[in-house]
Amino acid sequence: MDAAVNATTISATNVEALERDLIARIDASADDAALEAVRVEALGKQGVVSGLMRTLGQMSPDERQVMGPKLNRLRDLVAEAIAVRKAAFAEAALEAKLRAEAVDVTLPAPRAYQGAIHPISRVMEEMALIFGEMGFTLEEGPDIETDFNNFTALNFPEKHPARDMHDTFFFHPGADGARKLLRTHTSPVQVRTMLKQRPPIRMICQGRTYRKDSDATHTPMFHQTEGLVIDEKTTMADLKGVLMAFVKAYFEVDTVEVRFRPHFFPFTEPSAEMDVRCDRSGGQIRIGQGDDWLEILGCGMVHPNVIRNCGLDPEKYQGYAFGMGVDRLAGLKYGMPDLRDYFAADVRWLRHYGFSPYLLPGLAQGIAS
Ligand code: PHE
Repeated sequence: MDAAVNATTISATNVEALERDLIARIDASADDAALEAVRVEALGKQGVVSGLMRTLGQMSPDERQVMGPKLNRLRDLVAEAIAVRKAAFAEAALEAKLRAEAVDVTLPAPRAYQGAIHPISRVMEEMALIFGEMGFTLEEGPDIETDFNNFTALNFPEKHPARDMHDTFFFHPGADGARKLLRTHTSPVQVRTMLKQRPPIRMICQGRTYRKDSDATHTPMFHQTEGLVIDEKTTMADLKGVLMAFVKAYFEVDTVEVRFRPHFFPFTEPSAEMDVRCDRSGGQIRIGQGDDWLEILGCGMVHPNVIRNCGLDPEKYQGYAFGMGVDRLAGLKYGMPDLRDYFAADVRWLRHYGFSPYLLPGLAQGIAS
């Protein structure tokens, strides 16, 4: 610091010299520590600028009027120069940190961190592809449904025990007293589609469904794929042909034997469950051979009441519907025994059973890849 500058010899010229000296040292400071040293020397309690400010009290009023503004300006300039320099250091530090931590997003991710397609997503792709090739369109509906779409329109009578079969999750009633629910099956999408489209209808829908149920073969949230065909001349034989074609394509077997067992669903008449021939010896289920049968889906001819409830004339239109559990069929195809593992979000399971996002089923590469 300029030794000539002190409280007794202060003059306008000296203030300017001091200012130049301090600013030069601030600008020349190499890092935060050096800058802080200059700040203490200038503006600290014992600092030169602070010392000069204190001399104002001993000055004559005339002197003070000249020197007061000069010293104030000096103090402000020095403080500002320090702040600017400090900000520059902070910015440079951030730049350096960003440069050091930069990630090249164009590099392939390390194998261990790559995501995978969940088997359920994969299997729904496969199903959509198979039915898509057979001319089915894909429809959608919400998980939260009205009682009408999930039950009433599908010919479940009010208070009928068939409604209890489904172990429904209901919401609290709304202002109008109506209870919404988590759909117990994908069949409400049949209703939505019939209400908005004119026949011929040939659609599938897929998605989450919910029932109060939890064990190795049931999870409270599960998935279904549903099909609906409405036309003027459809028969149970068409239904059978489509389902057999589906099973062959899905399980990738040339021959498959199926059987239809009479069953009851309120929304189909006649109704059936379809079993496929399988072999359970050796702790594994093999589709297409063996002496056993495995139930894989429910189906039937759409009940005339359903067609009527959806605003269509059952004298003119009829058709078939089917619904299958995606989770079960995924487990059968890819050997995943416990349904609860599907949704435990355990990365080890996902890595083992997941599919590469680059190998989605497609018309070119086939169903399984
Ligand atoms: N909705 C039925 C169920 O979840 C399955 C089904 C769909 C049966 C369509 C027949 C026709 O159990």
